[in-house]
Amino acid sequence: MSYFVVKSLKKSYGKSLILKDISFDIDKGQVLSIIGRSGCGKTTLLRSLNYLETIDSGEVYLENELLLSNEFPKKENDIIKKRIHYGLVFQSFNLFPQYTVYQNIELPLKLMEAKREKENLPPLLNRPIEEEIMDLLDKVGLQDKRDSFPSQLSGGQCQRIAIARAMALKPDILCFDEPTSALDPELTGEVLKVILELKEKFHLTMIIVTHEMSFARRISDKVMFMDNGEIVDYGSPEEVFNSTKERTKAFLQSSIL
Ligand SMILES: Nc1ncnc2c1ncn2[C@@H]1O[C@H](COP(=O)(O)OP(=O)(O)OP(=O)(O)O)[C@@H](O)[C@H]1O
Ligand SMILES: [Mg+2]
Repeated sequence: MSYFVVKSLKKSYGKSLILKDISFDIDKGQVLSIIGRSGCGKTTLLRSLNYLETIDSGEVYLENELLLSNEFPKKENDIIKKRIHYGLVFQSFNLFPQYTVYQNIELPLKLMEAKREKENLPPLLNRPIEEEIMDLLDKVGLQDKRDSFPSQLSGGQCQRIAIARAMALKPDILCFDEPTSALDPELTGEVLKVILELKEKFHLTMIIVTHEMSFARRISDKVMFMDNGEIVDYGSPEEVFNSTKERTKAFLQSSIL
């Protein structure tokens, strides 16, 4: 079985079936890009995987462990334990404006360590927290901004901090929901470069919802084209970007490649 496996996931809001029968798998270190029109269900899929929504049916496995099914854990603590496998980066960076860059990354780490101590688990980090944070800032190229506040940074820099923060808890899978759609083209480039480095240098396993087609083509091991809640095409970038399926062709022609 692959590292990460999603089997027949279905999700409705009221009477409308939003995710119809979603199945895919990713190997460790691979990048999956999800593309598709507005409203096709991309965010709903990411939110469902991350326990931000309940699902109707289906299963998700990580390293053969059942991570998600329609039996949603009742205790918040159990949900947190499942969610910890994922890091999430949204379109809006969601940094804490009252904290510095350093503190924005420190906060989740300190909370996690306190929680682990309470549960008699070994610490997540095996080195001083400051070293860890400076290493994360180095990965996104922003060590010199450690004492800045989010309001003093560009949108691209904020997003890079959000990426560092999402990596702080060492997730197995890093998920991005349109990480550059709030940015102008120049800042988009700097964020995409950081994400590409995460793959090339650190071999992170990532799921990326994006409208940046040339980026998806370049970074992905697999591309999924969704339309109206279902997977229309799924395969290597070459396969999907050269698809002969009418729905895929129509979508790609309407996007700037
Ligand atoms: N909380 C909700 N309640 C009811 N319907 C919802 C809810 N969230 C999303 N939907 C509907 O589910 C469908 C899929 O939405 P979703 O946000 O997943 O699309 P998307 O592919 O991420 O679109 P975009 O590219 O615009 O971000 C849409 O029809 C949307 O209106
Ligand atoms: Mg969306």
